[in-house]
Amino acid sequence: MNRRAIVAANWKMNGGLALVSTMVSELNKVTLNDNVAVVVCPSFPYLAAFSQASSALNLSTSIQLGAQNLNENAQGAFTGEVSTAMLQEVGVSYVIVGHSERRSIYNESSELVAEKVAAALNAGLTPILCIGESESERANEQTEQVLAAQLQPVIERVGIEKFTDVVIAYEPVWAIGTGKTASPEMAQETHQFIREYIAKIDESIAVKVPLLYGGSVNAKNCEQLFAQADIDGGLIGGASLKAEEFNVICSAA
Ligand code: G3P
Repeated sequence: MNRRAIVAANWKMNGGLALVSTMVSELNKVTLNDNVAVVVCPSFPYLAAFSQASSALNLSTSIQLGAQNLNENAQGAFTGEVSTAMLQEVGVSYVIVGHSERRSIYNESSELVAEKVAAALNAGLTPILCIGESESERANEQTEQVLAAQLQPVIERVGIEKFTDVVIAYEPVWAIGTGKTASPEMAQETHQFIREYIAKIDESIAVKVPLLYGGSVNAKNCEQLFAQADIDGGLIGGASLKAEEFNVICSAA
């Protein structure tokens, strides 16, 4: 099946206006394969600037804007938080939810992640739902159990039928920012588990959900990773801050 492929850039708390401008002009030169979307996720203060720069250059509609987080409430007394409506007003169409840094540093539970996915979907934003195991969990052969425990609350909260509008990013925590990428075979095996987990509930949804791999993806390893049957693109951290390298990764999807 020809699923849509996505390459998403997670800038984390990096970059600024200069990177917005470099990235938009570099992405204006990128050649993408059919059915590939690129999603750039800068920090909140730069979303509007990215959106304006993209419109000014008339950037391809395959290049979309994403946020790195959202609040599950519609509005109100939530100091420092950002709602779906605010994101949409500045041109955001995707949002990363449940990144391992949010789970571990800000104690986001899988239940809260499920609420955020529900809020994104209700607003018409596409959530990029991140799941992944730690090094010790993999060593203890708990990977599948951990991934299932992260997925199940979201499936129960939003319903499997809504997964046609969800993107899943598998990011093994031990591969994030470490230079230790999962081998293409290991990544494929885990992606296959995720797809089969969904297929056991609804096969027709499972074949459609884009599954992205994240964790030390770079210009050298992206091709092999993206060639795997169940890997439909990547969620890129460090390498997405280097415009030329990011273009190479986008073109490989
Ligand atoms: O969300 C992307 C991510 O956590 C992977 O980061 O720097 O290993 O590509 P990095």
